[in-house]
Amino acid sequence: MCGIVGYTGPREAYPIVLKGLKRLEYRGYDSSGVALLNHGLKVYKKKGKVAELEESLIGADVKANIGIGHTRWATHGEPSDRNAHPHESASGRLAMIHNGIIENYALIKKELENKGYSFKSDTDTEVLLNFIDDIQQHNDCSLEEAVRVALKRVVGAYCILLIDKEDPHTIIAARKGSPLVIGIGKGEHFLASDASPIIEYTKEVVYVNDYELAIVRPDELILKNLGNEKITPYVTKLDMELAAIEKGGYDHFMIKEIFEQPKTIYDCLRGRLDVAKGTITMAGVENYMEQLKNAHRIIIIACGTSWHAGLVAEYIIEELCRIPVEVEYASEFRYRNPVVNKGDVIIAISQSGETADTLVAIEKAKEQGAIIFGVVNAVGSSIARASHTGAYTHSGPEIGVASTKAFTGQLAVLTMIALKIAHNKGTISEERYLQLLQDLHDVPEKVDAILKNAEEVKAIADKYKDSTDALFLGRGYNFPVALEGALKLKEISYIHAEGYPAAEMKHGPIALVTETLPVIFVATKDSYHEKVVSNMQEIKARKGRVISIITEGDELSTSLSNDVFAVPPADEIVAPMLSVIPLQLLSYYVGIAKGYDVDKPRNLAKSVTVE
Ligand code: AGP
Ligand code: GLU
Repeated sequence: MCGIVGYTGPREAYPIVLKGLKRLEYRGYDSSGVALLNHGLKVYKKKGKVAELEESLIGADVKANIGIGHTRWATHGEPSDRNAHPHESASGRLAMIHNGIIENYALIKKELENKGYSFKSDTDTEVLLNFIDDIQQHNDCSLEEAVRVALKRVVGAYCILLIDKEDPHTIIAARKGSPLVIGIGKGEHFLASDASPIIEYTKEVVYVNDYELAIVRPDELILKNLGNEKITPYVTKLDMELAAIEKGGYDHFMIKEIFEQPKTIYDCLRGRLDVAKGTITMAGVENYMEQLKNAHRIIIIACGTSWHAGLVAEYIIEELCRIPVEVEYASEFRYRNPVVNKGDVIIAISQSGETADTLVAIEKAKEQGAIIFGVVNAVGSSIARASHTGAYTHSGPEIGVASTKAFTGQLAVLTMIALKIAHNKGTISEERYLQLLQDLHDVPEKVDAILKNAEEVKAIADKYKDSTDALFLGRGYNFPVALEGALKLKEISYIHAEGYPAAEMKHGPIALVTETLPVIFVATKDSYHEKVVSNMQEIKARKGRVISIITEGDELSTSLSNDVFAVPPADEIVAPMLSVIPLQLLSYYVGIAKGYDVDKPRNLAKSVTVE
């Protein structure tokens, strides 16, 4: 997600805040801004890079000893100058920056509009800011108390920094779900999303916990809970170097993003999936429900890993919604003369939202009258803007070139879309619908359990890292996962790997099987499992090396495999979000064992914006 920086003390705040934002650029963002307090509030913000903001401020009045800064990763409101942070309250008295998502902002916004408030941006952040301002003005309480009252009402994730022109030395900060670190200086304090903007000034830091609120002045740090009880700040000494901090203590962005998946899948479901109420809230689906449920055909268009997510969605949508689905490589679709009829719905899947082939393909389909539904990670990206409607994956910036957390985010969104359509159409029973909601809800916890056994995958990777070839096999929902596992191994370790439907082996590829060829089966317990076990036996009979991703307790597959990695049981429809995790880890550990740059593999770009 984005980055926040704050400073209060005797030094000039602007250079410290600006440099801090540059330290946080690695987190990915689309716009930036600063607010400074010196005889009034000065707010400067713009879409684009921090360097562009800096350029625009040459000659500006940036003198101040207190300031806050923000790099935004848009979730509500496309990237633009007016949606950039900091936001100013309607009263003109407060400025705030925010990292996170306020889920119930729409309700609060409506209440404020009924009171006469108007908004300059489309963000959830500005709503929270004016909510705080409104509470303070109507209850004649301290700003600190207004923040506490507001945050007790807020649903979602936040890290906020707030400054008040009537209190020119104090920063009020609070967090829940988004990180906040406070650096302790001599007569000065530093605040940031992680320690990278702080470490050059001090190694003494306080990691603020959820539901805590900090009142920060140059020579004072007061920590409280939302019940207004004081908390003794726990000061720790930073022992990480800058490079390690940027990766959250992980060695690489790829492994950091693999381990982020319990949280990013949760963030994707947050505010949408409600098991207790038996509902999935997705305005982008609800507003086009008639077109979606009555689609003659759904054509999924994507590239690479996103194309694999589309293949999983094909199985899910056809199974649950009984709508014919075709999955197309964008690069193929755009160059042939495809038949697209009115009444067709296109689902465009893209992490970056900037893949040239996908963008051109959906423009072509739109010209032929199709409705475009975008499943995108980058808010306000070209593919998102070219779509009639859609749903964001909220996976946060994906820095590693190999797509990992975006893939599971795509699967979570696509599963929710299919469930919403099927429930509306009545093509699944209420019981099955509710059972799948529960299974989807349980995915983040199961992914977390899988990641705890990552070392087992590392041991397997060390055994097979010198292989020159590999085969990945699966059936049904796990067939696209086999393809994804092969792509991950190819792009990270440069080993030639192929994914195949397991049953397809007998039509030729089984000729490749030797005593040294690793054959990875994605074989979690599902309606295809018995057949997959037969395919394992075919490989064993030819002395192939069988590595199997299995469901815990699957003794039969274990007996047929040279190596196994077990994942928790789950419905076959959500199983790909589990079975892909060990394959992501496998490619990472093999790439590391071979000494390759796993974050920037050779010849690859994170977003293929060329044709
Ligand atoms: C996957 O690990 C690769 N980085 C690549 O195949 C990628 O999935 C593909 O280029 C599509 O990118 P997009 O999702 O941003 O459109
Ligand atoms: N939800 C806020 C917005 O869209 C903050 C996003 C972020 O964490 O950068 O502006």
